[in-house]
Amino acid sequence: MAIDYKQVPSPCYVLDETRLRKNLELIKTVQDKAGIEIIMAFKACAMWSAFPIINEYIPRAAASSIHEARLAFEEMGTKAHTYSPAFTQKDIAEILKYSSHITFNSITQFEMHKDALAAHPTAISAGLRINPEFSDVETDLYNPCAPGTRLGVAASNLPAELPSEIEGLHFHSLCESSSYDLEKTLQAIEKRFASYLQKAKWINMGGGHLMTRKDYDTEHLIKILKAFKDKWNVKVILEPGSAFMWQTGDLVASVVDIVLDHGIRTAILDVSFTAHMPDCLEMPYKPRITGAYHEPQKDKPTYRLGGNSCLAGDFMGLWSFDEELKTGDQLIFEDMIHYTMVKTTMFNGVPHPAIAIWNDTKGLNIVREFGYEDYKGRMG
Ligand SMILES: Cc1ncc(COP(=O)(O)O)c(C=O)c1O
Repeated sequence: MAIDYKQVPSPCYVLDETRLRKNLELIKTVQDKAGIEIIMAFKACAMWSAFPIINEYIPRAAASSIHEARLAFEEMGTKAHTYSPAFTQKDIAEILKYSSHITFNSITQFEMHKDALAAHPTAISAGLRINPEFSDVETDLYNPCAPGTRLGVAASNLPAELPSEIEGLHFHSLCESSSYDLEKTLQAIEKRFASYLQKAKWINMGGGHLMTRKDYDTEHLIKILKAFKDKWNVKVILEPGSAFMWQTGDLVASVVDIVLDHGIRTAILDVSFTAHMPDCLEMPYKPRITGAYHEPQKDKPTYRLGGNSCLAGDFMGLWSFDEELKTGDQLIFEDMIHYTMVKTTMFNGVPHPAIAIWNDTKGLNIVREFGYEDYKGRMG
């Protein structure tokens, strides 16, 4: 059974539990077969109402801030592997409280916090983010290895010996990538960081491993992870985000009005690209809409789709449809669970989509609705 969209209010992000479980099963299989640890990066999706489901498979988290680390502790019941480019003295004690591992972005960040780390009552494993200076990611916005990057230390900027407290290495240089991209990255790392790898207890290979995509070669991934682990005698950790939520749900929206200018018809919606699907404009990419033609068709009704904010560029398109669109029609933007809810804004005070989970037996569970108080609460 699939989501019964007639039951879903508009606007609403709706997660399909069955599809999520399918992804989780695959991720857990990769983890178990490769003999590594996979943890979920909250930056892609922190929908904590789904944590009880995720916990049945992968009960571990990667946090990138004090709040994500606290959410892991409180709602997932686990201490996080925490990395941030900028841990502050104000926050470090609380961050340590919620973390089992902490990765520093630079040696100076480590120096700043090493006393707090030593004074912490329980042992926390410290790591350093390295810059492999190799990435296949073409969009600079998502390329952590672009020249001048602030993320991680290049081999040429490392001391010959790392401080003895640094037990692990961390890199993140992939984005919606394949196992073959990872393989090339690992070759670059072995070339540049061999002496550090020899001493490392663990290596965190970051995110961007899109193992739940249909064409992803998971057997190859398992093979290269096992080989790397055996060669360097090191514990391997992956912290993907997107892979957990890949194609697990949608953003349900509806048409409010149709306007025309210079022969271009725009269907204005009750959602906004900039506020509710920001990656469409940032990456940019054109999202798929259920039942619509992804490319405009000459003989079909064709529309640009416009957001409900007053940002001039808050539109995308064109898409074609079998029928003319009209006010009240439902549109389903596909694959809108990762990097959406975590990145939304209330720009213009636009009403925020609700959040729901669909279960094939229990039906629709609306876990969160947003209103004026949520908007007001973010202002002062
Ligand atoms: C350090 C780090 N880890 C993990 C991730 C998760 O990546 P993805 O969601 O592409 O798997 C990111 C994404 O930016 C990241 O910066």
